[in-house]
Amino acid sequence: MARRKKLYEGKAKILYEGPEPGTLVQYFKDDATAFNAEKRDVIDGKGVLNNRLSEFFMSGLAAIGVPTHFIKRINMREQLIRSVEIIPLEVVVRNIAAGSMSKRLGIEEGTPLPRPIIEFYYKDDALGDPIVSEEHAIAFGWATQQDLDDMVALALRVNDFMSGVMLAVGIKLVDFKIEIGRIFEGDYQRLIVADEISPDSCRLWDINTGQKLDKDVFRQDLGDLADAYTEVARRLGVMPRTNGNITKPTLIN
Ligand code: TMP
Repeated sequence: MARRKKLYEGKAKILYEGPEPGTLVQYFKDDATAFNAEKRDVIDGKGVLNNRLSEFFMSGLAAIGVPTHFIKRINMREQLIRSVEIIPLEVVVRNIAAGSMSKRLGIEEGTPLPRPIIEFYYKDDALGDPIVSEEHAIAFGWATQQDLDDMVALALRVNDFMSGVMLAVGIKLVDFKIEIGRIFEGDYQRLIVADEISPDSCRLWDINTGQKLDKDVFRQDLGDLADAYTEVARRLGVMPRTNGNITKPTLIN
């Protein structure tokens, strides 16, 4: 079979030309990286899990009227998505202090925040994705004030949805990162949720034990990352099944 044209390869995913104009195929790799790829490994099954989980979250968002790039899952590692112009800002929403915010502001990890806090990071690997303000985004032309207002509204809706879904399976949504893209419809542009939503881009803590079920397991060497993601998928009922048994996905290429 002729291989599709590869358009972009990132740390965790590859984008191929899609079957129709305006579409792309998003392939989930098993590669795990942290600290701007200073730490890296290949985790068997991670791509399969993230493909499923991102499908699950994006489909749920669509069902409550939050627009996303997701069209359909094609196979265990690939999904069909809408092609968007990615806004070069990572949007982080935090409910509980952790990670870089705890470090930067000296707030103990695990401290509940008085309200969800939204931060923007400029997507630039060479600079290590620095935190920026709305002022920077507007002044340097990365987004307009209207875009930023729409991004905040989208991010808060994603936060409400994801918090509820996670709470229902005994998991606290500590924080997460999303990326947002523009699509053009005639003279109008619309912002939609793009990239992926998976345990790679969230912090997820078990409500009872505080056990980490996200990429911090890899960042901090806390155990088997695939086991943690499998547990999230199992609780959400989105594990691939073989003969009716829930199984950890095996590598297919
Ligand atoms: P941080 O505390 O390291 O700034 O991370 C905040 C959230 O963003 C956390 O859920 C992990 C996610 N994240 C990414 O998805 N990609 C990244 O490159 C980084 C640094 C964080």
